[in-house]
Amino acid sequence: MKALNNPFVTYGYKGPEYFCDREQETKSIITALHNERNITLVAPRRMGKTGLIHHVFNQIEQTQPDVRCFYVDIFPTKNLQQMVQAMARAILGKLDSPSQTAMRKVTQFFGRFRHTVTYDEITGVPTVSLDIAPNEERNTLKQIFEYMHQSGARCYVAIDEFQQILQYSDTGIEALIRSYIQFLPNVYFIFAGSQHHVLEQMFSSVNRPFFQSTQMMHLGPLDESKYRKFANDFFKVQNREISTKLFHQLYETMHGVTWYVHVVLNRVYQEAEKPITHKLIDQVMRELVEEQSPVFQNYYNAMTVNQAAVAVAIAREQKVAKPLSQDFIARYRLPSPSSVQTSLEKLEANQIVLRNSDGYFIYDHFFAMWLRDLV
Ligand SMILES: Nc1ncnc2c1ncn2[C@@H]1O[C@H](COP(=O)(O)OP(=O)(O)O)[C@@H](O)[C@H]1O
Ligand SMILES: [Mg+2]
Repeated sequence: MKALNNPFVTYGYKGPEYFCDREQETKSIITALHNERNITLVAPRRMGKTGLIHHVFNQIEQTQPDVRCFYVDIFPTKNLQQMVQAMARAILGKLDSPSQTAMRKVTQFFGRFRHTVTYDEITGVPTVSLDIAPNEERNTLKQIFEYMHQSGARCYVAIDEFQQILQYSDTGIEALIRSYIQFLPNVYFIFAGSQHHVLEQMFSSVNRPFFQSTQMMHLGPLDESKYRKFANDFFKVQNREISTKLFHQLYETMHGVTWYVHVVLNRVYQEAEKPITHKLIDQVMRELVEEQSPVFQNYYNAMTVNQAAVAVAIAREQKVAKPLSQDFIARYRLPSPSSVQTSLEKLEANQIVLRNSDGYFIYDHFFAMWLRDLV
């Protein structure tokens, strides 16, 4: 592949040369799947789950060509029917090499469902879309699993944003999926998602269908010094370098969340003529806040008055260890501790605010900057 113009990729997975570290995590996911274990991958948004899944599948495709890997993102799905459609598109037709025989098999298998087959113009890989009749979702899902089962091939299926299934009005989906996966000897799953309370409950509560059916994996920030080295390997080509101190500041400011660090590095790389200074980084961050301000305005408008007040106060403080303390409440003229508590819970559930061992902070640093500029 031709080298990219900018090696700090801010969207999608562009190959191992642009992917930083995650060696240990990659190895443990591959090992788990190889040893017949499913994985639940949990991390806050934009930490690197989706990228890691693609990286893992890329490695498996290189080293274990008999294994079939499928990636399904169910974030945009609103009900079981749409989820089954997403699964069908990701899996059917791609299970075997794209051949007439393979497609005949799919057609036979799904004969009683209305479906359309389209072929990728370049690769010739077929995509199957199913037209699922109402009340046929469960049967169709069963057929998709059965199709993988009968293929005999070892299959790894990643379902991204898995917590989405809890938003569907269809009931009993956890139990349904669990019952299929339990009896498929050749199919293993990666369930990924960002709402760790939700996923943990789903996979670690005794009374839930998925109880102890997967190995939990929490993805933290990239190792700072490996990340800096990764960045400087690219800056070296431009005869530049980001100093240890500046990188540390950037990494800390972004709470180590990969995407936020990465978008800044992408812009810094673009300014190839300028030395990498505090001033340049600051300018780039201002630019990014400015560009995203319509989005931030929407976030802000969606909050209640109390939530907005609490968010602004946290943004001003950067990090708040005791948000219910008299001191904090008085300083920002917030309402009673109990309404601060209620607002915080909502902000946390919406992943506007996150909590770690030193306290609460606004997860999106650019949004925090925007909030601080408000008054
Ligand atoms: N290991 C990595 N190396 C390089 N960039 C990464 C890495 N992990 C994440 N990123 C960057 O962060 C962005 C968000 O990662 P993504 O995998 O989409 O996060 P998540 O799925 O957890 O929300 C990616 O688009 C990419 O720009
Ligand atoms: Mg993702």
